[in-house]
Parts: sequence; C-alpha cells; structure tokens
Amino acid sequence: MNHKVAFNFADGKTSFFEVKANELLLDAALRHGVNIPLDCREGVCGTCQGRCESGQYTQDYVDDEVFSETDLAQGKMLSCQTRVQSAASFYFDFDSSLCNAGATRRIQAVIAKVEQISDTTAILHVDASSSERLLDFLPGQYARLKVPGTDAWRSYSFANRPNPHNQLQFLIRLLPDGLMSHFIRERCEPGQALELEAPLGSFYLRQVNQPLLMVAGGTGLSAFLGMLDEIADKGGCQQPIKLFYGVSRHTDLCELNRLADYRSRIEGFEYHLVVSQPSPQWPGKTGRIPEHFDRQAMNANPFDIYLCGPPPMVEAVKTWLTEQRIDGFHLYYEKFIDSNSGG
Ligand code: FES
Repeated sequence: MNHKVAFNFADGKTSFFEVKANELLLDAALRHGVNIPLDCREGVCGTCQGRCESGQYTQDYVDDEVFSETDLAQGKMLSCQTRVQSAASFYFDFDSSLCNAGATRRIQAVIAKVEQISDTTAILHVDASSSERLLDFLPGQYARLKVPGTDAWRSYSFANRPNPHNQLQFLIRLLPDGLMSHFIRERCEPGQALELEAPLGSFYLRQVNQPLLMVAGGTGLSAFLGMLDEIADKGGCQQPIKLFYGVSRHTDLCELNRLADYRSRIEGFEYHLVVSQPSPQWPGKTGRIPEHFDRQAMNANPFDIYLCGPPPMVEAVKTWLTEQRIDGFHLYYEKFIDSNSGG
C-alpha cells in the first residue's frame, strides 16, 4: 500500500509525494525529484537526516555515531534507512532549494589558478562554467577531485559558496609527499582539465537559530570559509558566531584578510587564532583550542558547534565537551586525514 509523505523544510516549503510499500524514503524522494543531500546511503554518515513530525515508520540501520537513544526517541531519522507504515511528515533543517539540484554528479572543469597562501597551504581556483547547470552544494560540503595525470581522487571542502558562474575554490594542504601536493607544486597550470565529483558530505551549515561556534583545524578552515561566505552574502544573521582556527605554526595560517573582512560583513562575528607550536614571535593564543573556550558562556546558552579538521582535533574538542559536562548544543563535525585533506 502506498503512503503519502510530506517533507517540510526550514524555509517553510513542503514537498508531498507517494512512497510505495516497503520503499525507502530516500528512494521515493529521489524518484520525485526531491534530492535530499546524501552520502553513504548506509545509515552511517548522517547526511540524509531529518526528524519525524507525525506517522509510523521503522529504520533499517542507524549507526550509534549518528544518533543517540535520545535522538531516536525525539524522532530523528535517516531518509536512506526509513520505511513508512502510514502517512507521515518529516522536517529537514535546511531550505527546500538545496534539494532540487543537489544530486552528486561528475563535472569536467578547468583549473583557473592556484596560489600558495601560506607555508603549507594553497588555494585552488576551479572554473566549472562549462557545465550547463549550476553546481549546487551546501556550504561545508566537499568535492572529490581527480588528481590530473593519475587515477587517484582526493577530497576537499569547498572554500566558497555556490555561484552562478560555477567558480569553485578549495584549500589544499601542501604535504611533503602528497599526490595532489606534487601536482600543485610541479605540474599545475591554469587551463588544465580537472574532473570532479560533487557535492558530497554530511557536514553543512544548518539553519542558524542559535549562537554558532566553529572550530577549524588547518585546512578544515575551507569548509568554514564557504559557510561564512553564505552567512555574509545572505545577511541578516541574528546570532553571534565565533570561529577558532588552530594551526601548528603561525606560518600555516592563511586567509586572514578574508577572516578580518567577515568581521565587517557579519555582525557579531569574531575569530581567534590558536597556534600549537608557537615561535617566540607569535603574540597570540597558543596550545590546544578548547583551552580558549568560554565554559561559562557555553553552559549558559544553547549553541551549535561545528568542527572540521584532523581527527585528533575533533576528538579533543568532543572529549572536552564531555569532560566539562557541557550540554544543550548540537554538534556537527567532519574529520579528515591529510592525504585526503579538506574533506
Ligand atoms: S546517506 Fe543516509 S546516513 Fe549516509
């Protein structure tokens, strides 16, 4: 028996469609052109998550890392694992427009330019304007880039937001021995062809309804540049936003002008730089990022926290939150390893 389902989005729009007996909700949504962001399709990444507002449903598999028992009791669900047994409605905390062009696809693009912006970081500008459609993605998501001249793919977070000319940016960590790093240093030239697959990932900016805490480790900054571009361009954000950007050495820091610029474009935005291996010349914050959090303020008001960086940084922040018994927050995070830096 078919069931009628409603998907409600943060912008107040609703999509209605029929789900066949025993059909996965995600399959039904895609069949009707509602392209809910997705990644693993296995109940592990959490990308396709929403919340049930009414109706009967079951879920095939939900990884422990995605939802706690409390989350499940509150109706949190994964579209790729959900089957409905009655008419039902679900809520997704992003705008409906993000579902209509967001399906992952392969694109042939060209390299526009590459700039080294710190001792260990380059910014790659990619021109995907030959693609006939807008490459739509959620700020914070990532793309897989095929390293030219090889069969290897590497993942990098977008460092800007979708735009009508399909001009894309990615921060790339320059490793002594990375495949992409070699390409960037030795063979990369404007006009070279570049194949990419996007959008991917469950780390994206949700509706900003409460104070935001962003924590970037190294080139994890890339994802936040995309999010901050989105917030600055849209305007009207009513919530304070605090970014902590941690690196090993101060010569790793990059895009500082851009961060300073957000301060004038986003009311209530502040950022803090933290260097874990400071030279004597470094005048700013040092050590591990959580040492600089304002515990009292975090306990006083609910907030959303986004983490993007190497696994030790993400784990250190999560552990600190647990140890300090901070609650009343929503946590979103993306871990990456250096060979796949940025995504
Ligand atoms: S796409 Fe549904 S959990 Fe990953």
